[in-house]
Amino acid sequence: MNKDSAYSKLKAALFWMKSNLLIRKKPLESLIAGEHLYRHFTAFDIFLFGIAAIVGAGIFVLTGQAAVGAGPGISVSFVLAALVCALVGLAYAEMASMIPISGSAYSYTYATMGEFIAFIIAWDLILEYALGASAVAVGWSEYLGHILEALSMPLPRSLTIAPADGNVPWPLIALAVFAFGCGFFLFEKTKSLFFNFDKLKLEEKLPAIAAAIMVGSFVLAGCYASYSAARELESINLPAAAILLSISWGLTRGVKETAKYTAIMVAIKLAVIALVLAVGGYHIAVEGVGDHWTPFLPHGWSGVVTGASIVFFAYIGFDAVPTMAEECIDPQRDLPRGMLGSLAVCTVLYVLMSLVMTGTVAYSELGTAAPVATVLGAIGQTWAVMVASIGALAGLTSVLIVLLYGQSRITMKLSQDGLITPYLSVIDEHYKTPFRAIAVIGFFVALPAALLPITELAELVSIGTLAAFVLVCGGVIILRYSEPDRERHFRCPGAPVTPALGLIGCLYLMFHLPLVTWLRFIIWMVVAIVIYFSYGKRNSKLNDL
Ligand code: ALA
Repeated sequence: MNKDSAYSKLKAALFWMKSNLLIRKKPLESLIAGEHLYRHFTAFDIFLFGIAAIVGAGIFVLTGQAAVGAGPGISVSFVLAALVCALVGLAYAEMASMIPISGSAYSYTYATMGEFIAFIIAWDLILEYALGASAVAVGWSEYLGHILEALSMPLPRSLTIAPADGNVPWPLIALAVFAFGCGFFLFEKTKSLFFNFDKLKLEEKLPAIAAAIMVGSFVLAGCYASYSAARELESINLPAAAILLSISWGLTRGVKETAKYTAIMVAIKLAVIALVLAVGGYHIAVEGVGDHWTPFLPHGWSGVVTGASIVFFAYIGFDAVPTMAEECIDPQRDLPRGMLGSLAVCTVLYVLMSLVMTGTVAYSELGTAAPVATVLGAIGQTWAVMVASIGALAGLTSVLIVLLYGQSRITMKLSQDGLITPYLSVIDEHYKTPFRAIAVIGFFVALPAALLPITELAELVSIGTLAAFVLVCGGVIILRYSEPDRERHFRCPGAPVTPALGLIGCLYLMFHLPLVTWLRFIIWMVVAIVIYFSYGKRNSKLNDL
């Protein structure tokens, strides 16, 4: 190949990328039209919302497991993860304020960076919100187990934990999902025939009977595959799946967090943390920490960074805060104050919690299902174990509602935009909720929650969220150059250096996640690309404009 033809091929490839991947943007007018929400939020409201969305399984469950790797240095991991989040948060706020609508990073990027990047971000956000809900539900189940045990009503172990690594019959499960999915799809397509069977002419009855036989066969195949999978499963996390299905059912009925509930949940979560700090802190003041904090960094800096990539999960949710941009009284002033304020408070609490936890119990013994309960139990405060466990359960429930609610809206938007099946955008006439999207999400989050341990789930959540953050930070830098004149209600201070540091920070944390998490993430991204080019691009509503 001579130089000229290589150059023209490269030019053609760049042109293709520009016209296919970056240019297909949603016109801003179609996003803004009709959407003007009342500006009523103050910095304090934003702060409260931030705490409600952030504090959850990260601190109540994962801290213990991450501490096993990082030792007392897990407190430094929390600071490192918070710094990355703060940099990303500022970039996020600028992106959110450029598109004056409520919505997620998906909506912002659709109008600024094009459909393809928006789809990829949405696909990453599924890992953040949907799989995040699965991970939090596992934490929820662990605290429930603790409470039931304390009440001498323990559930059988085989019904409360995920099977050991590698013992999940995934091919059989995939087969069951596929068979039920085909059966359901065929039923939806042909149900008008079944329901009007007696009104059909004779020649129409035959296809209806054939369709019924096929639906029946798919259901039978699904049942058989499920039965075979169930026989191979040694255990299953039933409470985790049950809470996800229950909340999903509630969401189809229009249950969502109101400001009042948010404030109550925040109060409960903060009270649990205060209780651990008070009881554990008092114990340390009286007994000292012994040799629990020596060495402070048993696995050096690499232990700290690996810990940060795991406890990064504990900050997830802060990125929901900029979605309030349109409803803030003064976004330029209040958005960074509220968001950075909630991040700062969470960081201080997390650092103190991790110091108290590692100072009370040897870090190697913290890798339990409910480490907060372990710590309080170890110092003999059984009353506090119960109070903290019930509080943690309530706190985790609020995070589950936020995550599942967020995911259902992203799914609905993708469906409305034609990038995934329109079937999921149907709104229930009575409850005004996207009930199909919620039901499908409920099922698909319950499955991993029942079958995978929290650390594996949380690592995938972290990598997906970090990838979305990389794109948002990169987007802010690009847009500063490509669209310098577009109005920004909030300008990220120090840009482009600040978003560039955020981007590097996210990549740094991503590279400390295990190889198997990377492989799973790459497969997830390949699925996204296949779906976009085989379905989304062709059916996008942009084609109709
Ligand atoms: N940050 C949320 C939690 O820790 C996702 O549960």
